[in-house]
Amino acid sequence: MQKDRKLIIAGNWKMNKTVAEALDLVGGLRRELASVKEVDLVVCPPFTALGEVSKAILDSNVRLGAQNMSEHSGGAYTGEVSAMMLKEFSVRYVILGHSERRQYYGESNALISRKALAAHAATLKPILCIGETLAEREAGQTEAVLESQLRGSLAGLSKEHMEETVLAYEPVWAIGTGKTATTEQAQSAHAFVRHVVASMFDETIAKYVRIQYGGSVKPSNARELMSQPDVDGALVGGASLEVRSFTDIVKNSI
Ligand code: PGA
Repeated sequence: MQKDRKLIIAGNWKMNKTVAEALDLVGGLRRELASVKEVDLVVCPPFTALGEVSKAILDSNVRLGAQNMSEHSGGAYTGEVSAMMLKEFSVRYVILGHSERRQYYGESNALISRKALAAHAATLKPILCIGETLAEREAGQTEAVLESQLRGSLAGLSKEHMEETVLAYEPVWAIGTGKTATTEQAQSAHAFVRHVVASMFDETIAKYVRIQYGGSVKPSNARELMSQPDVDGALVGGASLEVRSFTDIVKNSI
């Protein structure tokens, strides 16, 4: 289905794939998806595979993303990786504020906004994640949670920054659980996110910004999700770890 916004489908490999396995996967994707022009394709390997994957996708239609980065530009921050270090490997995108980072590593909206600003300062495009938990959804707080995550984690970003930012709506209860949001739930959350972006920035930015859906996206549900008017792509975890399933998600989305 044709939309004004180009679809963007990204694979979040999480803490999976050795370098050899990463090269295997990306080699297969490069081959299978070589003719795809309608969708921006992104793979987000772990830090340790970025260098080799970067070389393996040279001159292809696959772009590189990282899964996290430091809010600092350098210095005594043991275990951290800066935006400039990612740029060395021609990384273009960086996932920020994934629910696993929020949940297991205590990342706050304030920290995520500092990371987003640091990413933009290095011309990296954030894929900024938001999403409610099951308890929040059941308590009728979905929109309030999404709004406060958006206001907090996009704080300080300019309209120019927003032109280079991708949002990802990932209901926490749908991540890795096999439970997907219904197309109605996804569409309604995406429309709400766009509405909040309009009120924070303006209508033009809201129309332009791409909002991915994430949470148990698979070949069998990709087409229906992507056909929703406000769904502009997918952030895929589990199903991005195999050539076949990621390729089928992309092909079913076109
Ligand atoms: P999933 O993960 O596709 O395995 O549910 C999505 C994500 O966490 O980005």
